[in-house]
Amino acid sequence: MNEYVLNHPLITHKLAILRDENTSTKKFREVVTEIAALLCYEATRDARLEEVEIETPIAKMKTGKVREDNYAVIPILRAGLGMVHGIINVMPNAKVGHIGLYRDEDSYLPVEYYYKVPENIEDKVAMIVDPMLATGGSVLATIDKLKKDGVEHIKFLCIVAAPEGIEVIESHHPDVQIYCAVVDKGLNANKYITPGLGDAGDRIFGTK
Ligand code: PRP
Ligand code: URA
Repeated sequence: MNEYVLNHPLITHKLAILRDENTSTKKFREVVTEIAALLCYEATRDARLEEVEIETPIAKMKTGKVREDNYAVIPILRAGLGMVHGIINVMPNAKVGHIGLYRDEDSYLPVEYYYKVPENIEDKVAMIVDPMLATGGSVLATIDKLKKDGVEHIKFLCIVAAPEGIEVIESHHPDVQIYCAVVDKGLNANKYITPGLGDAGDRIFGTK
């Protein structure tokens, strides 16, 4: 199992805000940003440190710094954009690439409309971000695309995951690590996560 679920009272608290249909767009965006930062904190626990020598006001010392530019954050448009600020607040020098996908309303299959990733993506750790993992179709298409570009180290950060989506990633790409805030019950007849939080993109951008 390559999945890590944030298990913390503060996360439950923040999810209660996101799940509440009466939460405003502004508040929704703020909380998505906060949870994204906490997911990033967990997802970089294995980051390698480069030795550096610095001088404190008191003494010289050797310590470590993360090569943030070895990371590429890849939001799946649109909803993934809502997580980018939380991540670059924590890792300001991470590169950002974009993949545009939407889920066709009838087939539920992802349709690609945009793809632009940083140079030398094959040498970076790609952190795909999207608040929702439902059928797994969108993230699967993203992973396939990145692997085709030679990316070897891929992590996926999401807020609400359905067991069906986790299963799809783990069976096709067991090497990809999944970090999520919560795993919900499953998908409803319209392939929405239940209880979930609704349409993440619409709630982040106030489009409905
Ligand atoms: C949502 C969500 C994911 C996808 C998840 O995007 O943000 O990208 O659906 O579903 P899946 O796991 O079944 O592929 P949507 O297609 O609604 O587009 P949007 O972000 O533009 O709203
Ligand atoms: N996309 C969303 O935004 N929400 C879901 O529950 C499923 C897909």
